[in-house]
Amino acid sequence: MTTVLINIKELIQVRDTHIQKVSGKDMATLPTIKNAFLVIENDRIMGYGSMDNIPSFSSVKTIDCTGKMVFPTWCDSHTHIVYAGNREQEFVDRINGLTYEEIANRGGGILNSAKKLQETSEDELYQQSRKRLEEIQQLGTGAVEIKSGYGLTVAAELKILRVIKRLQENYHIPIKATFLGAHAFPKAYKENQEAYINLVIEEMLPKVAEERLADFVDVFCETGYFSVAQTERIMEAAKQYGLQPKIHVNQFTSIGGLQASVQHGALSVDHLEIMKPEDIEALKGSETMPVALPSCSYFLSIPYTPARELIEAGLPVALATDFNPGSTPSGNMNFVVATACIKMKMTPEEAINAATINGAYAMNLSNEVGSITKGKKANFFITKEIPSYGFLPYSFGSNVIDSVFINGKQI
Ligand code: NIG
Ligand code: FE
Repeated sequence: MTTVLINIKELIQVRDTHIQKVSGKDMATLPTIKNAFLVIENDRIMGYGSMDNIPSFSSVKTIDCTGKMVFPTWCDSHTHIVYAGNREQEFVDRINGLTYEEIANRGGGILNSAKKLQETSEDELYQQSRKRLEEIQQLGTGAVEIKSGYGLTVAAELKILRVIKRLQENYHIPIKATFLGAHAFPKAYKENQEAYINLVIEEMLPKVAEERLADFVDVFCETGYFSVAQTERIMEAAKQYGLQPKIHVNQFTSIGGLQASVQHGALSVDHLEIMKPEDIEALKGSETMPVALPSCSYFLSIPYTPARELIEAGLPVALATDFNPGSTPSGNMNFVVATACIKMKMTPEEAINAATINGAYAMNLSNEVGSITKGKKANFFITKEIPSYGFLPYSFGSNVIDSVFINGKQI
């Protein structure tokens, strides 16, 4: 079936060739076509161009987009949306003065979510998670990465990854799964960290690989969580199973996890709120995507990733939500793009590149999504009538999305 969108006020992020990512100064360029058409055949983008040159079509469905813009859907390369319940109480505790660290040290934080998840059935977990996935799609997300990490036992980590598998089967957006068994040390292993690392490496990883439940491996490499040496052990073990690293680093402290991740060929390093000059240096010349999570900085009131410094160093930047119950209970990529502009001083062009093609790269999906390119998936959204694409981040908190299309079909 062929569908043609006509009279598009501006078609955003049009790339004639299959690029993998955009870096440095190139991030300031966002290619668009004004007064455009877009042709969709079944689930793929078949063509596009200026309305001045629109070919004549017979028996096609047309959608008139007068006054409206078309964007490729957001690519959210970092989420933890398979979780149980919420952590509203900790939100109030933080308002009343406790820090994220203090809450975690009292047995709250990740361990609190793990306890809830362990007590939740797989089916119930699926039901809670599917609602979040449906919500983010309506907010314009058309490809997503989801991590485990709120299980912390063999059974509960597998439960999360099986839920992700079920989401992959039932929802037709690209979903990548990441095994994050090393998210926090369970209480029973606080004094015997080695035993937990062994559990991750010797029991969890082989099962995850055997059931083909993950595409990537992640570790929360941070003071008070997993050390650089422990992170390296896990990355090396995961390599045997073909799992590429995507690592949480530099959220609160810069301890060398970024350098270790780059050396291990990580696809991405995520968070990066605390960056030393040597961290930026280590990224130069690598294929590792730096991923910023501004909603997390916003929610926790911690520094924002120094995106300007990264871009000025010639590096790419991707933006993602980090949707999780503790540090970012929001999966809204529109808010992420706006916050990147407002707080990180990214321009709308840079932020949109970071949330589309660079997000796709950070999930190994650049060939499928992230731009309006012939042959890519027809995953896009149509805006309401807006004056410019910069209006999207400018009007932060408003929803400018009119409709979302996944695989060429409105959802
Ligand atoms: O990416 N930093 C580690 N993990 C999550 C938050 C964990 C939690 O508080 O539940 C994050 O921010
Ligand atoms: Fe995270």
